[in-house]
Amino acid sequence: MGVDVFKAIFERRSVRKFRSEPVPDELIFKIVEAGVWAPSAGNVQPWEVILIKNPETKEKLARAALNQGFIAEAPIVLVVCVDLEKAGWAYGERGVNLYCLQDSGAAIQNMLLAAYALGLGGCWVGAFYEDEVKKILGIPRGFRPVAIVPIGYPASKPSKTPRRRVEQVVHMEKF
Ligand SMILES: Cc1cc2nc3c(=O)[nH]c(=O)nc-3n(C[C@H](O)[C@H](O)[C@H](O)COP(=O)(O)O)c2cc1C
Repeated sequence: MGVDVFKAIFERRSVRKFRSEPVPDELIFKIVEAGVWAPSAGNVQPWEVILIKNPETKEKLARAALNQGFIAEAPIVLVVCVDLEKAGWAYGERGVNLYCLQDSGAAIQNMLLAAYALGLGGCWVGAFYEDEVKKILGIPRGFRPVAIVPIGYPASKPSKTPRRRVEQVVHMEKF
C-alpha cells in the first residue's frame, strides 16, 4: 500500500523473471480484491479467479501458453475467467462479446497495479489455447479463461517499454 497511483501506472512493467520465494496468501487476496474493485458494466462483476500453486499444474499451463516457461517459474499463477452467462443475462450479445472482456481487463490491470504496489510483479499472458486451459483446470462450460497472470517477487527490474506519445494518440474533435 502507499504507492502513488501515477507512479504505479508509469513504473509497472511486465515481470517474467521471479524469485522462488513464496508470496503470502494475504497479498494474493489483496491483489484479487483490487481486481474486484474495478468498474464493470452494470456492476455485474463477471470475473472468477483461479489460484494455482501446484508445480505440475503450472507446467501444464506454461505448455498450454505456447511454452511460455516463466509461467511455471512464478510462485503463484492466477487464471482470470469470465462468467459468460452472467454477462449475457445482463446485456445479451454485447455483454458476452464486449463488456465482460472490458470488465475483466480492468480487473486484471487493477491486479497488476496492486501487485506492483505490494513489491510484487506479474505479467498479463493472453497467448494460450483456451480449450487446453479449460481442460487442465476443469473450468466448466459457460466460463471463459481470458488471462493467465503469473505473480511473484521480481528477480530483476524489467527495462522500460516504449509508448506512443500522447500527441499521436489524441485526436482533437474537428469543428
Ligand atoms: C491482452 C494482453 C495479452 C498479453 N499476452 C502476453 C503473453 O502471452 N506473453 C507475454 O509475455 N506478455 C504478454 N502481454 C504483456 C505485453 O507484452 C506487455 O504488457 C507490453 O509489451 C508492454 O510492456 P509492459 O507491460 O512491461 O509495460 C500481454 C498483454 C496484454 C494486455
